Amino acid sequence: MSVTTSIKKTAQNVEKVLTGEKPQVDLLDTLKEEHELVSALLNKLVDSDSASERKSLLKQIKAALVPHVRAEESVLYDAIIAVKDKGTQQDGEEGYIEHSLADRTLKNLEKIKSATSPEFSAAAKVLKELVEHHVKEEESNVWSDAREHFSSDERKLMNQKYLVEKKKVRVA
Ligand SMILES: [Fe+2]
Ligand SMILES: [Fe+2]
Repeated sequence: MSVTTSIKKTAQNVEKVLTGEKPQVDLLDTLKEEHELVSALLNKLVDSDSASERKSLLKQIKAALVPHVRAEESVLYDAIIAVKDKGTQQDGEEGYIEHSLADRTLKNLEKIKSATSPEFSAAAKVLKELVEHHVKEEESNVWSDAREHFSSDERKLMNQKYLVEKKKVRVA
């Protein structure tokens, strides 16, 4: 058994002791569920014409999106960027850039006073399009990288880490 395999086995055994069972959920399944939730909220935001509903949806989007991207960066993207393959590293870097564009668009939206103004509608549409594009590429490119470079057991461990990291993120 190589050192890496033995470290992985030890990590899995520790996990087993802590949780009483082997971790079951693949990180990619958790991410998929969250993508669907955010996408539904963004569709509602763009379709709504009520200022109060839009403000409330924006808060829900921020609360779902910000912990998702931060934990995704530390658990998935950093692992992808650490893989010794330029194409894989580039997928990770591209994801980081798109996350920061989404952060900025979210901040801009929060600054707009009238949630029914054309300015707000435009920024909401841009955020929706940005997230849709990002999710599409993430689910094809980054997830293929994750499936290629990390085993199913590793992705289950990454899911446990992801859930812990997400709880640490403070949404201002
Ligand atoms: Fe994601
Ligand atoms: Fe992402």
